[in-house]
Amino acid sequence: MKVTSEELKAQAGEAAAARVADGQVLGLGTGSTVRHFLRSLGQRIRDGGLQNVSGVPTSEWTRDVAAGEGIPLVDLREGTRLDLAVDGADEVCPRLNLVKGLGGALLREKIVAQAARRFLVIVDEGKVVPSLGVSKPVPVELIPFAWSSHFPFFRRLGAAPHLRTREDGQPYVTDNGNYVADLTFPDGLTDPTEVEDALRARAGVVTSGLFLEMATEVLIGGAGGVRSVVRGEAGAWS
Ligand code: A5P
Repeated sequence: MKVTSEELKAQAGEAAAARVADGQVLGLGTGSTVRHFLRSLGQRIRDGGLQNVSGVPTSEWTRDVAAGEGIPLVDLREGTRLDLAVDGADEVCPRLNLVKGLGGALLREKIVAQAARRFLVIVDEGKVVPSLGVSKPVPVELIPFAWSSHFPFFRRLGAAPHLRTREDGQPYVTDNGNYVADLTFPDGLTDPTEVEDALRARAGVVTSGLFLEMATEVLIGGAGGVRSVVRGEAGAWS
């Protein structure tokens, strides 16, 4: 019987929730895989199996879902000890570099991931790619001012840019009041670091969905169960 990608996401999310220990402060990611993590985490808390756990949400969506699951929420500020961030991804390559942000929460996700001692990524095996940018566009969060003026710059990077829009055709607006451009690289990214450095240096670009050298471990839900790939052991997918 074929296992659906939703079931694989659930496996990865539940495995991540099983890793959480008493007293931890968590980064709570965004997306359908994280939805399973939050459900399972909330269940553990409500059952009394976890004490004194709290989380920093990476989106308004996550804030609502986590609150509904009874997960205590805290703000990320100076002095906050963030033990573990858990989040999904759109692509994961063998170096454990990621493309994230198809759900639009890339900025807060990156802030939370970089503040965490460990960054655990949960995906179904369909997210595993040989190199970044082959199956998904790279989202870029832009301030709305002069947004289209960046498009020639994105093209010079080798990308076909598209402003993300809502169903009514209006620009999609992030939780931070910004726009998102999705950059399609027809042949994938040969040098993600070069692209990330160029995007970072561009005034008006707030951040990109390239999460390089950030993940410490990836849990991959597959037909044979969940397997873990830890940074440093990456490269051995099969
Ligand atoms: C949200 O902005 C994204 O970064 C998500 O983490 C990513 O898109 C994965 O989402 P799914 O778990 O829904 O595939």
